[in-house]
Amino acid sequence: MSETEIEVLPLKSKIAKMALANHQEIVDIRRYLHAHPELSFKEKNTAEYITRCLDKIGVQYKSGIGGYGITGTIKGKDPDSLVVALRADFDALPITELNNIEYRSQNDGVMHACGHDAHTASLLGTLRILNQLKNEFSGTVKFIFQPAEEKFPGGAKLMIEDGVLEDPRPDMIIGQHVYPDLEAGQFGFRPGKYMAAADEIYITFVGEGGHAAMPNKTIDPLLITAHFLTAVQQLVSRNADPFNETVVSFGKIIGEGATNVIPDFVKLEGTIRTMNEEWRDEIHDKLRRLANGIAASMGGMCELEINKGYPYLKNDPRVTKKLFDAAKEYIGNDAVHELPMRMGAEDFAYYSHEIPACFYRFGTANAAEGIISGLHTPTFNIEETSLKDSVGMMTWLTIKLLSKD
Ligand code: NI
Repeated sequence: MSETEIEVLPLKSKIAKMALANHQEIVDIRRYLHAHPELSFKEKNTAEYITRCLDKIGVQYKSGIGGYGITGTIKGKDPDSLVVALRADFDALPITELNNIEYRSQNDGVMHACGHDAHTASLLGTLRILNQLKNEFSGTVKFIFQPAEEKFPGGAKLMIEDGVLEDPRPDMIIGQHVYPDLEAGQFGFRPGKYMAAADEIYITFVGEGGHAAMPNKTIDPLLITAHFLTAVQQLVSRNADPFNETVVSFGKIIGEGATNVIPDFVKLEGTIRTMNEEWRDEIHDKLRRLANGIAASMGGMCELEINKGYPYLKNDPRVTKKLFDAAKEYIGNDAVHELPMRMGAEDFAYYSHEIPACFYRFGTANAAEGIISGLHTPTFNIEETSLKDSVGMMTWLTIKLLSKD
């Protein structure tokens, strides 16, 4: 189809054709990013590569926002009417890639195993099309390329502190994330609470070590730990409102005694996941009291530290409903799903507490081809045809959000 033929199509079909026409280039960008992953807070080359792509598209931007963050705008007609922000993250993970593909990671021990390469390539494709269509929409598109999603305190927080949500202040923000639970070409949305607040907890139970054959002469920190680990789940089952999602998990215990040695102390590390900010503070208090109380009752002591991570992620119901309906219009009713809640965390949550937001998923699996590995695994990959849909969909959703109907 020639460019003049594309001109006369209805907007939806026009976007789909343009996404298809740009597809190979977006795949190439994604493969470049995939082959050159960088860890959180170290994404210097990735940021430079993104700015070269933006130069090629021909849009203005500022870099160095909150670290390696990049932001800019594309103005449509009547640019002051509404501002919609689009966000993509671009850091990778400390994982050694096991995929046997030509664009395999060239950086040892670093891998795009959470699809941030696909998010960034998709946003670049979306901007390319929106820049060509700027006479067809009103308002302003603000783009945000964000580093360091995977690591506390999170690139989103640092970019917000550096003013990314000002000048112009977006009326809404959207972000999309790969989703291996759905086949390529499928999309998922969830209004309201969607992802959890995640806090790290570090505990040391201090007792008094000694010969394991004479426990009466010791204060056994292992036994304190055993009581604590059982009791802590009662916070979830007896103190948390049954309708208030809560997870407390401990994944690490170090107690370095021996068969016949009771150690002086035991260290524990865990995570606390919640979906309500008030309850989040409350359960932190309860955890402290419980740990101190159990340790004291058994003659020991407790040192406890909680590192507060990302808040819970809330999808604005009105924006999400609008996107859900618009997505069906773009790709068909059967390809758009309501998502379950997830107790995973995502720093997009910070934006969602500042302005109306929606974080949605695009399917990236191809079960027939065996592309089904989970996020953060060394064999994670995407079905790349999903990129024409992620690009087309984000373009379409942006224009729908900018239209006032
Ligand atoms: Ni991710």
